Amino acid sequence: MSNVAPRDCVSRVLFSQDAIHARVEELGRTIAKDYGSGNVGRDEHKRPIILICVLRGAFMLLADLARQIPIQIQYDFICVSSYGNGTSPGAVRFVKDLDLPIRGRDVIIVEDIVDTGHTLDYLLRVFSARQPASIRVCALIDKPARRAVSVNVDYAGFTLESDEFVIGYGMDYAELYRNLPYIGVLDPTAVQ
Ligand code: IMP
Repeated sequence: MSNVAPRDCVSRVLFSQDAIHARVEELGRTIAKDYGSGNVGRDEHKRPIILICVLRGAFMLLADLARQIPIQIQYDFICVSSYGNGTSPGAVRFVKDLDLPIRGRDVIIVEDIVDTGHTLDYLLRVFSARQPASIRVCALIDKPARRAVSVNVDYAGFTLESDEFVIGYGMDYAELYRNLPYIGVLDPTAVQ
């Protein structure tokens, strides 16, 4: 499998490089407008928003999005992993926590995909307990039809109604395909 070019494992391109670039530009503009206008931020000291990048899937989105937000921002990284022992579906643990304190700050969680919603639900609960001034969510892909727990995505890049497994632009299957510059559907026959 590792000798096969990543593009040969894609059955269909869903979102091209150009489409992603255009959408991320829009997201950046919307975020800047929301927080720049003072209508969304709740930080009484008006400090820069903190983007929280959920590794590893959201790193490309964070890199591109940060450059499309023309107001002061800071960013930090977390890494989570699923327990995957089958006893508690959706159980999540921190592999790397934030370095920045978020108490009193306006934060935006930046995710690759919100699928069942378990990961985001966990993150919202953990971060809310740290008493940020406000907390919002930006996800490259929202799969609302797959939700097992109710969570809201404030800034969605693309909404996917189908149940297809997607790869590329940071998103993986078995830690591969993250370097595809576009988002495509994984060809299941390529990974058998
Ligand atoms: P959750 O089910 O919402 O908790 O999603 C957890 C994580 O599963 C996401 O952040 C992604 O990393 C991963 N994931 C879910 N669906 C896909 C997919 O279609 N492609 C790649 N990763 C996915």
